[in-house]
Amino acid sequence: MIELNYDYIADDRPSVIGVKSQALYYMNQIYDGWCTKQKASILIDIILASKPKTIVEIGVWGGKSLIPMAHALKVFGGKIYGIDPWSNDASVEGVMHEGSRYFWATVNHEIVMLKLVDYIKSFELQNQVELIRATSEDAPIIENIDVLHIDGNHSEITSYFDVCKWVPQVRRGGWIIFDDMNWTESGHVTTSKAVQYLNEHCHKLAEINDICLWGIWYKP
Ligand SMILES: C[S@@+](CC[C@H](N)C(=O)[O-])C[C@H]1O[C@@H](n2cnc3c(N)ncnc32)[C@H](O)[C@@H]1O
Repeated sequence: MIELNYDYIADDRPSVIGVKSQALYYMNQIYDGWCTKQKASILIDIILASKPKTIVEIGVWGGKSLIPMAHALKVFGGKIYGIDPWSNDASVEGVMHEGSRYFWATVNHEIVMLKLVDYIKSFELQNQVELIRATSEDAPIIENIDVLHIDGNHSEITSYFDVCKWVPQVRRGGWIIFDDMNWTESGHVTTSKAVQYLNEHCHKLAEINDICLWGIWYKP
């Protein structure tokens, strides 16, 4: 169904050609983040194929996954809501691994967010993007989500909370992308409860292993 080919686009009308290369070009300008070219390419294919009106991303960081999705959204309209508190306290909550705790406790979230705000302006994506500076827990409910990308705090409690709060807001037939399915701290896979929830409530379509293991589900 989804071809792992960066040149592949789900819609080959002239107005759509070039969208993916431009989206990946924008993504490459962004230093902060972890979204791979392969993942962005698949996210763009999902958007071009499903023409979503509403995308929600939990965990935005520097916009490495949000920016290519926002650019793809320009073709048909639609909005991406990026939910992230950009806060050291929220990022360390429940994180057990010492190295991860140190990174998230000390990294400057404010600068990363401000750089993203500048990218959104310079790539002219203001009409596609709404940033919500809040935790997944505090953010207002957004209903009828067509595509949900969960890539927030990977601790057990938060990742499980994310699926319990947000998967019910996805419309029937909508897509869920969940990052870091096997995030391991002290020998324990912290995201396994969230993945189990997804497997019980949705149909798994694919599992992709690039720099991490991430998956795609469909809401029946
Ligand atoms: C792994 S990064 C996101 C990476 C980004 N999606 C990418 O592809 O580069 C995790 C993000 O989750 C955010 N975060 C931490 N706790 C959160 C929470 N409770 N709700 C939403 N986002 C949270 C962090 O601020 C950080 O920006």
